[in-house]
Order: sequence, then C-alpha cells, then structure tokens
Amino acid sequence: MSPRQLPVVEFGAPVSAVPRGSPAADAPGDARLAEFRPETRALPSFFVWTLGCQMNRSDSEEMAGRLLASGCAEAPSMEAADLVVINTCAIREAAEAKVIGRQGVLARLKTANPGMRVVLTGCSVRTSNRAGLAKRYPAVDMFLRPDEEPELIDRLGLASAQAPVGALAMTAATTLVKGAEVSDASHLVRARADAVTGGAVLRGSAISAWLPIIYGCDKTCTYCIVPFSRGPERSRPFDEIVAEARALAAAGYREVTLLGQNVNSYGHDLAPEPRFTHVQTQRTVGRAQDRTARPDLAELVRAVDAIRIARDDGVGVPAITRLRFVTSHPWDLSDRLIEAIAECPSVCEALHLPVQSGSDSMLRRMGRQYTIDHYLERLARIREAVPGIALSTDVITGFCGETDEEYADTIRLLETVRYDQVFAAAYSERPGTPATHLADDVPADVKKRRLVDLLGVQEGIGLERNCAWLGRTASVLLDSVVPPRAHSHDDEADEEAAGTSASRDAFANLPHGIAHMLGRSRENKLVHVAAPATLLGTEADVLIEHAGPYALRGRLI
Ligand code: SAH
Ligand code: SF4
Ligand code: F3S
Repeated sequence: MSPRQLPVVEFGAPVSAVPRGSPAADAPGDARLAEFRPETRALPSFFVWTLGCQMNRSDSEEMAGRLLASGCAEAPSMEAADLVVINTCAIREAAEAKVIGRQGVLARLKTANPGMRVVLTGCSVRTSNRAGLAKRYPAVDMFLRPDEEPELIDRLGLASAQAPVGALAMTAATTLVKGAEVSDASHLVRARADAVTGGAVLRGSAISAWLPIIYGCDKTCTYCIVPFSRGPERSRPFDEIVAEARALAAAGYREVTLLGQNVNSYGHDLAPEPRFTHVQTQRTVGRAQDRTARPDLAELVRAVDAIRIARDDGVGVPAITRLRFVTSHPWDLSDRLIEAIAECPSVCEALHLPVQSGSDSMLRRMGRQYTIDHYLERLARIREAVPGIALSTDVITGFCGETDEEYADTIRLLETVRYDQVFAAAYSERPGTPATHLADDVPADVKKRRLVDLLGVQEGIGLERNCAWLGRTASVLLDSVVPPRAHSHDDEADEEAAGTSASRDAFANLPHGIAHMLGRSRENKLVHVAAPATLLGTEADVLIEHAGPYALRGRLI
C-alpha cells in the first residue's frame, strides 16, 4: 500500500502557547486596555476539580475557559476559590465515593466563606438520579448534567456583554435510552464550536491538547453507566475538527489526542457527502451500521496528518507530530483505520483497545458483541500493519457470574497478547445499568484477589515489554519537569516501577540547568531523563538504559 499524496498547508514558525496560569495570559498587551477589562474582584474566582477520563478533562478545559472568558479568575486551590466546579465520574462507586467524602470539607469551606458556591457536574448527574443528588452531595448548590455544562455561565448569572461565550442561547436536551431519560449531546457540538472560536477553552497544557471528536456512547456494555450519563453518540462536523487541529498546530501544539468514548465510531451519524463516497465500511460485529459516504476516523486521521509544514520534497512534515486517539472499540477497528494508522507518519505507534475479558461467555454477558477470535484477528492485523505497535487494554475482574475458568481465560489472553499496559478494575455495580438485572455474585474479596493477581501477571509482562527497549532509542516528548526533592508519591511509585530506587540518585546533584524531566515516547511509554529544562515541549532522542514494568529511564543523545 503506497502512501497517498498529501496536500500541504503552510505554516509560519509555531508560536509557543502561553502556559496556563502565566501572568502574560491575563495581562492586557496595552495598559490603556486595562480599564475595559471586567472588574475581576467582583467576580468569583473558580477552581475546577476534575475526576474521570480524558473526556472530562476536556470538558473541564471548556468550562474553565468559559469562566475565564466571563471575567472570573482561576484560583490556585479549592480552599482559595469562591466557586468550586466538580466534574464527576460515575464509572465505579469508588469514583463517586471520593466526591461524597469531600462534602464535609466543602461545607466547612462554605462556612468560612459564605459567598462560596459549589457546582457539581459530569457523569454523576443524570435525570434519573436528580432527586436524590442533594442528599448525597449536601454541600452542592447546583447540579448540571454533562449536556448542561455550556449553561454554567448563564445559570450562575455571569453572562454579560463582556462574556459573550456565556450568553449563548443553548438549551440542553435529553433523549431516551432503553426507556431512561439521558443527556443528549447534540447541542454540545455547537457549544464546542463557539467555545473554540470564542477562545474559551483553557487548555491545561501548551504541548499536548485534547480534541473531542464524538460525544456519548451507543454501545451495549451491560455494566457501564456511560450511555446513561452521556447519551447517544454525536459526532462533531469533520471540517470543524480539522480547523481546530489546524489552530492547535499553528499555536505550536506538538501532540493532539482525538477524544471520544468511542472514537472509531466517528461519523456514522453525520450526513453522507459526495466527497466521502469512497467510504464504504460496514461493521462486521456489533449492531449493523451502514457508513456509506460518511466520514470516518480513518478519513479524519488522514486529514489531520495532512496539516503539514512545507518542505522542498513537496510532501512536508506533519505540523502536529504526534496524533493519538482514545478510546477505540473493537466493533469499529476497520481495515481502513488500520491502513490510515500505518500510513500517516504523525499517528503514534500505540493503540488502546479495551477487551474487558478473555472469555467469550463473559463478553456475551457484558454485551460486548464480539468474540475473542475477532478481537485477536484485529490485533494480528494491526501488528502486521504497524510492527512494534504498543498495545494497551482495559479489563474488569469479577463481573457477574465470572467463574475461575472464565477468569483464567482473561489471564491466558494477557499472556498471549502481551500488552504493554493493562488498566484493570474490579466490577462495581452501577445503578440503572442492564447488569443490575444480573446477580452481582462474585464476592468482593474474590474480585479483589483476581484483580491483584491479574495486575501481578501483567507486571511481569509489562517489565518484559519495557526491557525490550533497553539499548534502543526512543523519541520522547518532554512534557514536565520533576521538581528537585519534591517528588510526589506518584513519582516515587513511577521510579520504583522503573526499577530505579537508584533513580533518585540518578537525578540527584544534577548540574545547573539540567532537570529531571518526564515525557512519553511515541509508544506511550513514560520516560525519565536528565535534560536541559529548556527542552520542555520538544521531542528528544533518549537512549533507554533502565526499564521497569511501568516506566523507562534513559540518557539524552
Ligand atoms: N469507552 C471506553 C471507556 C469506558 S470507561 C471503552 O469502551 O473502552 C473505561 C473503563 O472502565 C472500561 O473500559 C471498563 O473497563 C471500566 N468500567 C466501566 N464500567 C465499569 C464498572 N461498572 N465496573 C468496573 N469497571 C468498569
Ligand atoms: Fe461504556 Fe461500553 Fe460505551 Fe465503553 S463502549 S463507554 S465500556 S458502554
Ligand atoms: Fe467517568 Fe464519565 Fe469518563 S463515567 S470515565 S467521566 S465518561
């Protein structure tokens, strides 16, 4: 398969985005403009606490951007804020318990600062549970479903002439899924476009950006709350996504991650267009779907990859050097997408493809609608097309009725596939999901033991996968500096994971100007390296010298 001829878009030198929180981000360029700026002291300072997945992080960037555009200032902590926005995750009970457990602290903060307001949004807010929310979250003043997030500014009375982004005439909507009234993300598509054009997205990084392409989930996983929290799939228009990617490239972003609960279902709900007549993919598993003449993820990936910096060769290099996408679902991992991954130089050599279980009978109970044979066939196809691609997955242990044999099938799958990374969790029953009709009959201690055992098996596999990098050179996008002697617990865990209790020593007494830096390789491996802090935001070649199950350490070449 020969690479397609790609159109070339010219860019000037990238301007580096002003990092969030830098004073330059707020200061007017011309002092005379100061008097036209809104009275920030009269407006609440805000803090957004984000739990859950990347989609929530992206949604929080939009909410924070809208608040900033309405004249509010970002507070450095929850304690210092007048307005706390909690963007919740409902995927497991533990995620919700974290927020419930903070109600006392929030109540005390409100007593100390009577003007303080708390807004709770995200996946924990559903029409079906609205009545009980005030009891579960007594410190919260206002609840917004995910589809109501664009109304935050209006509902807080912050919309004004100075805040055109908050004054959008948008109404949230619901729709029915299996008889339940759920969020409908249709208008989020419009709201996103307005937030982007209005500059109301407060990106958390000046190096890597999230780019939502599809909202909601149409799948049938019986254990999962997401379709009930987020509603059906709604794709953003193709050209809007490409325009946002182009703007990110022009702002100097090196890495873009296309986001959605199911990115590879992108486009099925968009209108057919003559320019996409060559798209003919039909699903081979899952609910039947005719995608004729509609854009798909393969087309989108190629269009973003085709945003190029011109070179003499007439082909140029991708302006966004690293393109990723999460999360993929086995239903829609088409040959077209695999070809696009293989042919587009910007697409990173890493694929996250959740499997959930290694047993066909479990997959049937989970409503996943594919078999392990189908899943393995797709992995073989992508490994053939992209040799060396890093693979990761999600697994649930102890789902309803899971027998020792079914669990053993999952362990066997991990041993067969040899994933680079596995995200695993014990099953947690979620209210209103189809699985509540099945008995949650695997005892908690068995779920937990299976989880710990599985993670133990994967630790060995992860170490083996990472050891294969010893002596090789990885291209690492350096995205953070670890402050000296301020290693957080997580960093220590990472270092220990990297087999580097010696790691601390490796980064102690670094010469002036050299920092302990962290970054990701194209294969999504976490890499520790000593490098000049001025390299932050650049891609560096790192010779890998140490490997642990969860991270690598190397030397700058
Ligand atoms: N749309 C993505 C991600 C969904 S949420 C996908 O389909 O893969 C991320 C992960 O959370 C899921 O892959 C699943 O492994 C896990 N998860 C979802 N519901 C769960 C539940 N009720 N209990 C435990 N884990 C769950
Ligand atoms: Fe949940 Fe399944 Fe949708 Fe993923 S695909 S969000 S696991 S329902
Ligand atoms: Fe959690 Fe909602 Fe994401 S339930 S994982 S925040 S889509």
